[in-house]
Amino acid sequence: MEITELRLGNVRNLAQSEIGLVVGLNEFVGANGAGKTSVLEAVFMLSHGRSFRAVRRESLIRFGCESLEVFALVQRNSSLRRLGLSRRKGDWSARVDGAEVVSLAQLLSEIAVVCFEPGSHELISGAADERRHFVDWALFHVERDYVEIARRFRRALKQRNALLRSGVSTEGLDAWDAELVRSGTVLDEWRQKYLAALLPGVEELAKRLLPELGVPTLKYQRGWPVELTFEEALSQRRERDLERAHTGSGPHRADWRLSFPAAPEREHLSRGQEKLTALVCLLGQAELFHKQCGDWPILCLDDLASELDLDHQQRVFGWLSAIDAQVLLTGTAPLAVTPSPLRQHARFHVEQGRVERLL
Ligand SMILES: Nc1ncnc2c1ncn2[C@@H]1O[C@H](COP(=O)(O)OP(=O)(O)O)[C@@H](O)[C@H]1O
Ligand SMILES: [Mg+2]
Repeated sequence: MEITELRLGNVRNLAQSEIGLVVGLNEFVGANGAGKTSVLEAVFMLSHGRSFRAVRRESLIRFGCESLEVFALVQRNSSLRRLGLSRRKGDWSARVDGAEVVSLAQLLSEIAVVCFEPGSHELISGAADERRHFVDWALFHVERDYVEIARRFRRALKQRNALLRSGVSTEGLDAWDAELVRSGTVLDEWRQKYLAALLPGVEELAKRLLPELGVPTLKYQRGWPVELTFEEALSQRRERDLERAHTGSGPHRADWRLSFPAAPEREHLSRGQEKLTALVCLLGQAELFHKQCGDWPILCLDDLASELDLDHQQRVFGWLSAIDAQVLLTGTAPLAVTPSPLRQHARFHVEQGRVERLL
């Protein structure tokens, strides 16, 4: 899929910008603070409904403005979609082909963006919810009932926790346990299946980007002891849950990690290796998306040259040159390595929130 036209209004320091993107590589160049990351942030928002920088939503809106707007013309297989997202007074509103959609999920399902940025090492070294988000974002695109199952799970968990906190009666617990087990077991199975499908691609990418660490294995923890079913875990731990007033086991506690022969624990990875491991996972996710959904997600690479040395940049471009994805890339200087074979390549200059095409 490709964005052919991107219009931004009042996203951070970007006033009104109209950017015609090419199908291949789109390079955004400019000084620090020019607005390059903000362009990627806007594109990411269309696909995730949030920024990749952990920020208050309101700080995305340009100082002194009431709202922000992002509009993209997206070519996907043979269809062209007009996607619009705006935020005003604490609310998102989304449009697909001009019509307002009831839920943000309808917009998010129309576009897929995978982004590698200076904070991506958090996928490896950060909290487990980063890693759950990573898997669940893919499930959202792949599993038709994901939204419904995830909603049922969240609701049951919330209600069960409310009952545990109230401490007055445990009468309703059985009903919520049953619902948690039904939806949670499905979530767990999907996650397991997804991670198993992800591993072969991740192994290949790790060979390319991190050969010194050896072949990785992927360890999935579903959020309760392996020897128990979810139902057993809930009933065995009910007393403890009551004491602690929250549900201590379940898919909301799931996690996964990559382990390498030369770095069995994530504490063994250098910051640079954490970044490369995150990149391996993200590119693996893009590849699997292509396999499962039939088209490539849009790849955003923020500040690649300051994240990776020249050799690793070259390896990434080697991989990119063999695939069909649209790439949006930022840097303070034009790329030192020329991606080959040459696909369409546009360069934009970003300065004080203005974006201008150079090449
Ligand atoms: N809500 C906002 N309104 C106006 N400017 C903002 C807002 N949030 C951040 N900025 C500014 O926008 C600029 C662009 O940031 P960013 O896109 O990260 O730049 P770059 O990636 O080019 O270094 C920065 O100078 C930042 O201070
Ligand atoms: Mg930046």
